[in-house]
Amino acid sequence: MINKKIAVLPGDGIGPEVIREAIKCLDAISLKYSIQFEYSYALIGAAAIQKTESPLPKETIHICKNSDAILFGAIGDPAFDNNPQAKVRPEQGLLAIRKELELFANIRPINTYETLAHASPLKNETIKNVNFIVFRELTGGIYFGSPRGRTEDLKTAFDTCTYSEYEIIRIAELAFQESLKRKSKVTLVDKANVLATSRLWREVVTRLKNEKYHQVELETMFVDNAAMKIITNPTQFDVILTENMFGDILTDEASVITGSLGMLPSASIGEKYALYEPIHGSYPEAAGKQIANPIATILSAAMMLETSFQMVQEAHLIQQAVVKSIENGFVTKDINPHKYYTTSEIGSYIASNI
Ligand code: IPM
Ligand code: MG
Repeated sequence: MINKKIAVLPGDGIGPEVIREAIKCLDAISLKYSIQFEYSYALIGAAAIQKTESPLPKETIHICKNSDAILFGAIGDPAFDNNPQAKVRPEQGLLAIRKELELFANIRPINTYETLAHASPLKNETIKNVNFIVFRELTGGIYFGSPRGRTEDLKTAFDTCTYSEYEIIRIAELAFQESLKRKSKVTLVDKANVLATSRLWREVVTRLKNEKYHQVELETMFVDNAAMKIITNPTQFDVILTENMFGDILTDEASVITGSLGMLPSASIGEKYALYEPIHGSYPEAAGKQIANPIATILSAAMMLETSFQMVQEAHLIQQAVVKSIENGFVTKDINPHKYYTTSEIGSYIASNI
């Protein structure tokens, strides 16, 4: 019997609720295919700060490093957001784990479901057949650059955006390779008219294309223009390659195409480890209310099966069960505020269709 060890990090807010439903789906897969999933739960974020004073306890890193893959819920707590004096923040836990495990590529697929077209604020004809994938660099740029901080008089603050060639090459390779399985088109999103780091990205990515990926069409686009095109003409994209912060912003924006942030999964990949997480945050206002959409996390679990365990058929089954729940109107409040089901009802329904 195949045995896979999964580190489960529910985190904060709606994290535990949505993770519970993803586990239901994995259990359904386990029963059907006689695969054994061994779950090790670990603390991260505000939940970890409360118990250990650290947003990423050593124990959690240990568990993650000893697992075949990591499934993550959400992070963030308003108690910290509203307190500029807070010494530690929950988000540091997520940033630290990305850095510690060198999860340099965050992969976020954006597609549409015909039955959800009504949930998107965009016009039906604009979002029809949208299918692109964002490769967001995840361990560099302004998120991690130093120096950062405040001057002594506290009147000035600064962050630093840095990128080195190797950081660009390793994610660009992944994006080019993915594009070969798709329409062979990569759009590099940057701000090369202003930023030195962006000019390095252009130089390195263009060189890589010329050396190894002639057959791929490489397009470059300024981030402000890309922000507009993502909602006015999203079908023009196939693979978007971009740096950390631009990717953060553009993928939240892209979620409106699908109709809800609650639908989008992601994979954060490195050489050795991989972590799967919904792109939404901890949505603290909804925590414990059973209104959160568990689909992004369930689809993240499917991405884990496919990407880390090569269980393509199993992943496909989960995706089909998700489509079925949407088509049959089994959705949460974010999708249909007039007729909706609880987080747990949706999870059970999807699991029962696996
Ligand atoms: C994301 C989130 C994180 C990020 C936060 C929680 C630190 O917004 O995964 O997109 O900015 O990367
Ligand atoms: Mg984000």
